[in-house]
Amino acid sequence: MKSSSETQKMRDKLLSWYDRTGRTLPWRIRPEDRDAGQIPDPYAIWLSEIMCQQTTIPHATPYWEKFLARFPTVTDLADAERDEVLAMWAGLGYYARARNLHKCAQLIRDAHNGQFPQSEAGLLQLPGIGPYTAATIAAICFDEPTNIVDGNVERVISRIFRVQSPLPKAKTELRRLAATLASPKRPGDYGQALMDLGGTVCTPTSPNCAHCPWQGHCAAYANGDQTDYPKKSPKTKRPIRYGAVFVLQYQYQILLQRRPDNGLLGGMMGLPGTEWTARREADPLRAAPQARNWEKCPGEVKHVFTHFDLRLDVYRAETSRKISGEWADIQNLAEYAIPTAYKKALRKAGL
Ligand code: ADE
Repeated sequence: MKSSSETQKMRDKLLSWYDRTGRTLPWRIRPEDRDAGQIPDPYAIWLSEIMCQQTTIPHATPYWEKFLARFPTVTDLADAERDEVLAMWAGLGYYARARNLHKCAQLIRDAHNGQFPQSEAGLLQLPGIGPYTAATIAAICFDEPTNIVDGNVERVISRIFRVQSPLPKAKTELRRLAATLASPKRPGDYGQALMDLGGTVCTPTSPNCAHCPWQGHCAAYANGDQTDYPKKSPKTKRPIRYGAVFVLQYQYQILLQRRPDNGLLGGMMGLPGTEWTARREADPLRAAPQARNWEKCPGEVKHVFTHFDLRLDVYRAETSRKISGEWADIQNLAEYAIPTAYKKALRKAGL
C-alpha cells in the first residue's frame, strides 16, 4: 500500500495528465466543459458503457451515435419494439446485453419515472448493470467517489503494485488496491483517467512508460518487468462446437428461424440448423428444411463465442415451394437482428 502523501501525489498527477491528454470521446464531458456547466446525461453514459464492454471504443462509437439519434431518451428506448433494438445492436455481440438494455430502459420508465437512480447502490439494482457500470455511471454523472475497476484498471494496478497472484484470482486484491488510490475529488474524471491510462499508455504488450504520469510510482517499472503483469492463470482451451445451417432460398427470399428466447443468442433471428454439439453430425441434412437440392458451400464458418469456438457447415438450396416459416426478403436482411455467426453463413452462401 502507498502512503497517504504518495497516494495524493498520484491522484493529482493522474488528474492533471487527464486534463492535458485525456481522450475526447463523443459521450465524454471534458473537464473544461464540465467547468463551463455541461452535465453528463446518465442515459448517454449508460449506453456508452454497456456498448463498450467486450469491444473497442472505435467499434462501439457508431452504434452509440445511431442509438442516441434514434432513441434520444431512455423512454424512447423503452417504447421501442425489442426487435428493433436487437436489430440495431446486431454486430455488437453478447445479445443478452441488448435484451437487458431494453428491459432496463422499461424499468426506468415504469418504476423510476424515466430517471436513472442517482447512486451506485440504486444503479446496481437494475438489470444488466453490474459493479463496473454502476460505479462508472455514479462517478461520472453523480460525482460519487466509487471504485471503478475494468480490465484496463486491473492491468495498471497489477503493475503499480506488482501483484503476484494471477487473474482471475487476483481480482479481489486488485479491487482492494484500486480502492486505496481512488480519488474522492473528481471521481468521474479520475476513473476515466485511469481507464484511459490503461487503454492508451499502460497497454498489454508495449506500455509507453516514458509518457506515464505514474512511472515514478510503479513497482513493475522499477523492476523492468511491466509486461509480466497482470499474471494470468494458464488458459483453459475453449472447446469447439460443430453445427450446420441451412440457407433456403425461394425466389428473392430466405427462410429464417428465430432462436428460443432463453440461452445463447436468445430471441435473435437465425437460420434453420442443427444443434451445436461437440462432434460433427454424421447426417446434418436430417435437420434441414424440405428441399431437393441441398449443396454444401465449400469451407466452413468460424465464430468465437465466450465459452466455445463454433464451426458451421453451410448448406444452400433453392426451392420452388414456399414451406411455412419466417421468410425475409434478401434485400431487407440488414433490418433483422441477425447475429454475426449467421451473417457469416449468409455471406458464405453468397448473400
Ligand atoms: N472504456 C469504457 N468506458 C470508458 C470510459 N468512460 N473512459 C475510458 N475508457 C473507457
